[in-house]
Amino acid sequence: MVSQPNPVTTERGSGPIVAGLPMPEFHRIGVKPISGACGCEISGVDLRRPLDDETLAEVMKAFEHFLVILFRDQDLTPEQHKHFSRYFGEITELPQAPIYDGHRDMQEVRREAHEPENVVPSFEHFHTDSPFLLQPPKCVVMRALEVPQWGGDTAFSNAYLVYEHMSDGLKALLDGLQVVYSGKDIWAKNAKLAPEKRLRLRESHDFTEDELENIHPAVRVHPVTGRKALFATTAYFKRFVGWSEEESRALLAYLQSLAQHLHYHCRVKWKKDTLIVWDNRFTLHRGVHDFQYERRHLVRTTVIGERPLGPSDLMRS
Ligand SMILES: [Fe+2]
Repeated sequence: MVSQPNPVTTERGSGPIVAGLPMPEFHRIGVKPISGACGCEISGVDLRRPLDDETLAEVMKAFEHFLVILFRDQDLTPEQHKHFSRYFGEITELPQAPIYDGHRDMQEVRREAHEPENVVPSFEHFHTDSPFLLQPPKCVVMRALEVPQWGGDTAFSNAYLVYEHMSDGLKALLDGLQVVYSGKDIWAKNAKLAPEKRLRLRESHDFTEDELENIHPAVRVHPVTGRKALFATTAYFKRFVGWSEEESRALLAYLQSLAQHLHYHCRVKWKKDTLIVWDNRFTLHRGVHDFQYERRHLVRTTVIGERPLGPSDLMRS
């Protein structure tokens, strides 16, 4: 039994709905939705150059609305990539992700043609990146350097829609829950695996142990719009606060199954020099490792987000 979608999505006369809300208007940039659930392809923008105010405002509007924005044919230097990323906020290194070509504030996702799929942390399920940090990433800006001929897409699931389609009873339960996320044991766990099964992790970093574990709300609230989304996924998940690990895993497995529904998804087909920005707060994602004996090499920056707000923060303000 699912509840009715958020009333704003069903208003009459508000035009076509996409990503759960009426389609916005764009005048300066071309915007083509990728699916009905999230994601759009933007045209008419050259990311090698600084963006004028109006273009930037429309790019941000597309990001807020579609959560995943895609640009084709963006042959950027690392400095141009970082410059564009900083429009979204301050960029950061990550403790676990390998750095790119000596740039501590860029990461790479690389699978060589001979390597097995587990070498990159694609995880078994849709996930959000680095939720164990106090301020998990707002967004990731990722560009393709080399892609397989077929496959190797990245899929996204709109976490607002996942939440909005739950029953009121389940929403009320989740609204009061918090999650313990921890990245403390990923190196120890990796070291125990057979060499051919190990993830490629960063070998050293300056983060303290305390910085690798934090508690966040299971339902995340957008700091400006107040819109709510599911913020509980398996990667780095320990338990719900006040629940046993066994109880936590059972509920989490159900929540994870909701994110799999195809009608919440879009899928990005990479080409060389495709650049995407995804909202890491309100979408879940996963790489699709359906390719073999081909190289896939992506480079990315990570933009710091706000400390996640939950429904109780909304009531206090
Ligand atoms: Fe990821």
